[in-house]
Amino acid sequence: MASSSTVRLAIIGTGGMGAAHLRAYQASEKARVIAACDVDPESLARVAEQFNIPATYRDYRELLEREDLDAVDIVTPNNSHAEVSLAAIRRGLHVLCEKPLAMNRHEAREMVSAARRAGVIAAVNFTYRNVPAARYIREIIQSGEIGEPLHLIITYSQGWLVDPASPRVWRLTKEMSGTGVLGDLGSHLIDLARWWIGDISAVLGHLKTFVTERPLPGTGRLAPVDVDDAASFLAEFTNGATGVFFCTRYAFARANTQRAEIYGTRGGLVYDNERPNEIQFAIGSFMASARQYCTLPVPASIQASKTTTMQQFVDDIVRGTCTTATFEDGLASQEVIDAVVESAQTGGWVRLPLA
Ligand SMILES: NC(=O)c1ccc[n+]([C@@H]2O[C@H](COP(=O)([O-])OP(=O)(O)OC[C@H]3O[C@@H](n4cnc5c(N)ncnc54)[C@H](O)[C@@H]3O)[C@@H](O)[C@H]2O)c1
Repeated sequence: MASSSTVRLAIIGTGGMGAAHLRAYQASEKARVIAACDVDPESLARVAEQFNIPATYRDYRELLEREDLDAVDIVTPNNSHAEVSLAAIRRGLHVLCEKPLAMNRHEAREMVSAARRAGVIAAVNFTYRNVPAARYIREIIQSGEIGEPLHLIITYSQGWLVDPASPRVWRLTKEMSGTGVLGDLGSHLIDLARWWIGDISAVLGHLKTFVTERPLPGTGRLAPVDVDDAASFLAEFTNGATGVFFCTRYAFARANTQRAEIYGTRGGLVYDNERPNEIQFAIGSFMASARQYCTLPVPASIQASKTTTMQQFVDDIVRGTCTTATFEDGLASQEVIDAVVESAQTGGWVRLPLA
């Protein structure tokens, strides 16, 4: 197991997000990435050299035969999250897995049960919990200052698919991704919403695909897109609040824009991930009658404690704490995703939990 101060990790999946995870581990004194795995030898070699990782594997099963690992970090496409997580948990390893946790709730439920039985730390990288403004909003809601939450309007806009030449990557296939933007960006929104307001009890969803064929990378041959490009849903929370969720990959000139408005019985809050160190707020009768929202800097203490899920995961292993989003949170997000898919198919409200 981890010595009191060092966690020996392997990264599985060395693509765009894998490299981001490795940069985060570089910033942690307690993390030692001792192995990397990827089915793509070029990506594997490049990342191993860049991050000075001593051992590389093309097959995660060979990697998991090592006796000297404490934890793995799974940053592969969504269709391998469950298989690799379950194999690592069987080996008694702590697991950090990327979002969405799985392809569907059935896989996610199995992952939660396995992690509980094994007693390992099982974390999910819901990145946006670490935005200082998101943390401040949670603190304010929990303090009761805005009263009972009534409404959440939350959106996540990317624009990379507006370009018709944008290739048919794995994210645009049901086989590898499960859903489209709903699981990719919507999973983050659902997690933020649950973290701020509480659990969701019912949804009414709509999914839209604008372009159904795109050129494959390399060959340029057209291949089908069979997942949602844009996802919207109404939600009811178990505490009675209502929510409006929207995410898209077709938002012109948007790279990665999230916004949320939260209205309670005594106050309102506005979150914007592109302004991570401030929020807007109106609290109390004076601001209500002035019809004013004011900008408020996130307190220095929250800004100074900015961290990453990777750093928290390593600290949790060393300290035996649990500060990240967990597999339970990943499952809860997945249950809502599945309910939205079902609702979009049937055209009616779907209540949670699903069978
Ligand atoms: N938390 C976030 O903000 C965030 C942001 C981007 C991506 N992600 C998630 O990270 C994951 C990876 O996304 P990405 O953008 O890095 O994708 P990517 O395509 O850039 O990288 C995925 C890598 O996994 C490798 N791979 C595929 N199958 C494998 C297997 N069975 N074993 C080992 N390696 C395998 C691929 O060769 C590739 O190098 C996805 O689940 C995605 O949803 C999360």
